[in-house]
Amino acid sequence: KRRERNITSLLRERLPQRHVNLLEQAGALGDTLGVPVYAVGGFVRDLLLGRTNLDLDIVVESDGIAFARELARALKGRVRAHTKFKTAVVIFSNESGEEERIDVATARLEYYEYPAALPTVELSSIKMDLFRRDFTINAQAVQLNKGHFGRLIDFFGAQRDMKDKVLRVLHSLSFVEDPTRILRAIRFEKRFDFQIGQQTTRLIKNALQLELIEKLSGRRIFHELEAVLKETNPLNCLHRMDELDVLRRISPHLRITPTKNQVLEELENVIKWYRLLYLDDSPEPWMLYLLGLLMGCAYPEVKEVARRLSLSRRQEEDLQDVRELSHKCLGLLQQWVAGERTMSGLYCILSPMRTEGLLYLMARTKTDDIRRHISYYLTHLRKISLDIGGDDLRNMGADPSPVYARVLSRVLGAKLDGNVPTRKEQLEFAFSILAEETAKAHDQHRHRGRA
Ligand code: CTP
Repeated sequence: KRRERNITSLLRERLPQRHVNLLEQAGALGDTLGVPVYAVGGFVRDLLLGRTNLDLDIVVESDGIAFARELARALKGRVRAHTKFKTAVVIFSNESGEEERIDVATARLEYYEYPAALPTVELSSIKMDLFRRDFTINAQAVQLNKGHFGRLIDFFGAQRDMKDKVLRVLHSLSFVEDPTRILRAIRFEKRFDFQIGQQTTRLIKNALQLELIEKLSGRRIFHELEAVLKETNPLNCLHRMDELDVLRRISPHLRITPTKNQVLEELENVIKWYRLLYLDDSPEPWMLYLLGLLMGCAYPEVKEVARRLSLSRRQEEDLQDVRELSHKCLGLLQQWVAGERTMSGLYCILSPMRTEGLLYLMARTKTDDIRRHISYYLTHLRKISLDIGGDDLRNMGADPSPVYARVLSRVLGAKLDGNVPTRKEQLEFAFSILAEETAKAHDQHRHRGRA
């Protein structure tokens, strides 16, 4: 017989007090309404694995939307309900004024349609709710009602799997029901340093044989791929995807060659370095890794992959632009390191490039010197701005025109090269350029008059 485990002390140890309060509040509300309430899914899994996860998912064995409305009232928040799915999100502000959300779902027996191949058994509704989930570790619940607070519910052997570090599905049709779970399996395996179980591996291989990946929509694949690439070490996942033949089934162009692998490894280092420096401007992981995965591909092949992943026109253009530009940039950078190496020259080469492209360049170049200079551009040069602006040019009597941009860009170049560090010097330089431009314009006017 199953030994029951209560994880109240774990909850109290690991969670911030306000979250414990929140759980208790939800449980108390369940008591008032006379319904069983549970925290479920990734929240429970991460709690047991000692990882921070404050995304609370609640399941109630009754009308989830009605429960959510009551909870929102208690928390002075609001509810967004999805009647069709009988789910709701409670949105409220915590004491620090930050917005928080709690997902609430309904567990109901009649709600699930089960593949005919599965034996029909009587299940409680929470058991049914957990049974339709992907892996045992994600199919645990903690009861929140007062008398049972902290009661861990594990119908499918998640405790043992966590101890053995094994990722297992709950039944043999799991990947047929939802093939994106193949990618989720890989993601969780690498994130938690688990092993996909033997039987589960076989089921993945069967699903692949049935070409279920090929049948997935581009949107869904892209969504899962994005999630993979947002992991801390996406490359591990990509390797595993390649090993299991998942990458080829998404598109043969995505297969990892030794050359790509080298760049991908560098890319991962560069991304980690960049994230340590800048928490605010976060480059798009999907674009970075796609750049690496598509190295050596031609334009139409990239187009094919973009179509397979249903990239938006904008995303595809950005990707193609960065690829083309990075090619040009590398050539120009090679000339630059061999020449006078002015900072204005470096700025001129790199400023048209978006962050993803710059990081990709850093990963691709074999020259340390070039890598160092791109890093200098990212950390210093890029942030330098002028101490003068259009208003100053107007005050000099120049009418707003495209000349403004030309003048300011030359002054910026001079500042980058250290020639006009102060505002006063920049004003003087701008004035001299304006005078030059005016003289030139007059000249042209005279010539044209004569002709
Ligand atoms: N789930 C599932 N099958 C899927 C997606 C989700 O069974 N294809 C279930 C799992 O039980 C999962 C829950 O829905 O725990 C929530 O999924 P998700 O929002 O992806 O969250 P997490 O499991 O917490 O994953 P992550 O830590 O990456 O957010």
